[in-house]
Amino acid sequence: MPIPECREGLRFWYNSRMDMIETLGGAGIIPVIVIENEADAVPLARALVDGGLPVLEVTFRTKAAAAAIAAIRREVPEAVVGAGTVLTLGQLHAAQSAGAVFGVAPGFDPLIVEAAKDVGFQFCPGVATASELSQALSSGCKMVKFFPAEAAGGVKMIKNLLGAFRFTGIKFMPTGGVNLSNVADYLAVPEIACCGGTWIVPRDALAAGDWASIKKLAAEASALVRGLRSER
Ligand code: 3PG
Repeated sequence: MPIPECREGLRFWYNSRMDMIETLGGAGIIPVIVIENEADAVPLARALVDGGLPVLEVTFRTKAAAAAIAAIRREVPEAVVGAGTVLTLGQLHAAQSAGAVFGVAPGFDPLIVEAAKDVGFQFCPGVATASELSQALSSGCKMVKFFPAEAAGGVKMIKNLLGAFRFTGIKFMPTGGVNLSNVADYLAVPEIACCGGTWIVPRDALAAGDWASIKKLAAEASALVRGLRSER
């Protein structure tokens, strides 16, 4: 089900459970957000949505994460907000309670994956090797974050993994070292549903409240995704 554009449609869509792969895949690029100041959450989410990137990963690397997710859910219904860097059961619970509709982690922790499954929270763990991918598949995962993408071998590594794992139907979200200069190489691989990255929300622009620059970076990224997809 594609992301609806009107508020009523969004409410229905959230309640009827979005499909993580379809939704993140539809966006193509997911801004990975590190937010220190809860008050920045709403204007930041608006800038990203206005720039054409409505699916957001707010990382649990700061104390403000849960409150930022809750504020975005409350005030920016056009955004689809997930939690990133979910490393503990406490963070998993906090993410879901705050209203995150999906979760992402940099690594594969079977305890977290099982707990997410138990509470019906759509979750995308991280992998960087064939063994971790194997474990993620055994745990029922359909999409994995490939992290840290560039350092772990980039597109070449994913293509090599696909040589053995393509038949499983697994989808990847490479993150880590992905940016505007290399994201097209990743998105050209059909099994790569989307890419994540912090480049759309630079630390200094966020600290300065420079929403116009962030909106411009989001618009640039979303135009690239649209361009690539119209070529297919
Ligand atoms: C992540 O957690 O997904 C990465 O830190 C993002 O990496 P990047 O800063 O290279 O985009």
